[in-house]
Amino acid sequence: MGDLDHGRAYNGSVHTPTESAVAVHGLHKKFKGRHALRGVDLRVHSGEVLGLLGPNGAGKTTLVRILTTLLKPDSGHAFVNGWNVTVAPEKVRATIGMAGQYSTVDDRLTGFENLYLIAKLRGAGRHSARHCADDLLSRFRLSEAAGRTAGTYSGGMRRRLDLAAALVGSPPLVVLDEPTTGLDPESRLDTWDAVGELVAGGTTILLTTQYLEEADRLADRIAVMDRGQVVAEGTSDELKAAAGNRLVVCVAQDDHLDAAARAAARATGAAPTVQRRARRVVAAATDGPTALGRALTALADEGVEVLEIGLSRSTLDDVFLALTSRAQQQAAR
Ligand SMILES: Nc1ncnc2c1ncn2[C@@H]1O[C@H](COP(=O)(O)OP(=O)(O)OP(=O)(O)O)[C@@H](O)[C@H]1O
Ligand SMILES: [Mg+2]
Repeated sequence: MGDLDHGRAYNGSVHTPTESAVAVHGLHKKFKGRHALRGVDLRVHSGEVLGLLGPNGAGKTTLVRILTTLLKPDSGHAFVNGWNVTVAPEKVRATIGMAGQYSTVDDRLTGFENLYLIAKLRGAGRHSARHCADDLLSRFRLSEAAGRTAGTYSGGMRRRLDLAAALVGSPPLVVLDEPTTGLDPESRLDTWDAVGELVAGGTTILLTTQYLEEADRLADRIAVMDRGQVVAEGTSDELKAAAGNRLVVCVAQDDHLDAAARAAARATGAAPTVQRRARRVVAAATDGPTALGRALTALADEGVEVLEIGLSRSTLDDVFLALTSRAQQQAAR
């Protein structure tokens, strides 16, 4: 039995009963003794957009490079479209499109030539490669620049060309590593539209991002990565609900802030954040309404003049800060 058979056979069992475009289990990767991935478990279901969210160095690109066969894991399993990435990398490559954190576009070639060559490499004949390149250039508003070398493109145009390159051959899974980092707002909106179109066409998308808004807007589900592990997974609403409510207190005077923070800490049992310029104290409140009642009493005890007080649902920002190392770094400051 060949390696490919093995890759497929193993996959057969992980594909049922729900089909996964990506199935990752216990993935580890070290670079010169430093852990980049320490036991990643993740699934991307067919037809969904999974947003992989995490701070710098969380391991997003490392995971994406393993899934796209550019890097081998030290241990663990990863299956893409049914194929084991280490056993059948060429099968994986044939079923994915990838746009990396760093451009893969060749500067010396024109926009058209870049796409045309990729289409040819993917096995298209001359006629269909030309058709594919023209079609993608038009979808990404690059038709006018089709004859110019990519080296003369603006950052946003390059990114659009990168994205177009990932779509050559209409692969069932498209992997996008930080597709909008460094883009101006208009190009970012363009990219979001392009992703939206793909989704409408049924393409499965794995997208990494450091932007909460992007994950919130594009992803059906979000996996939060931190220090080489997936630390939370769910829809944006599920993650926000799991993070609970926030108690928000606005005070009238600067010198009431510390007393308000003491009161909020007593009421919630959590360490509050003091936003001095906004004269606001915010604390996580897991038992929302009860905490609000306790806060009113505690604030009165401290003699704090309250301008506004309330409970609000956690934002994705709160979720991110609570789950990733940034929260610990901030707390240590
Ligand atoms: N080729 C490499 N050699 C050595 N260390 C590496 C290499 N690639 C990644 N690392 C390290 O692995 C960890 C994870 O890096 P990775 O690039 O996967 O993070 P990331 O989540 O993509 O971060 P970013 O948001 O900055 O792109 C980091 O500590 C990084 O320094
Ligand atoms: Mg990265």
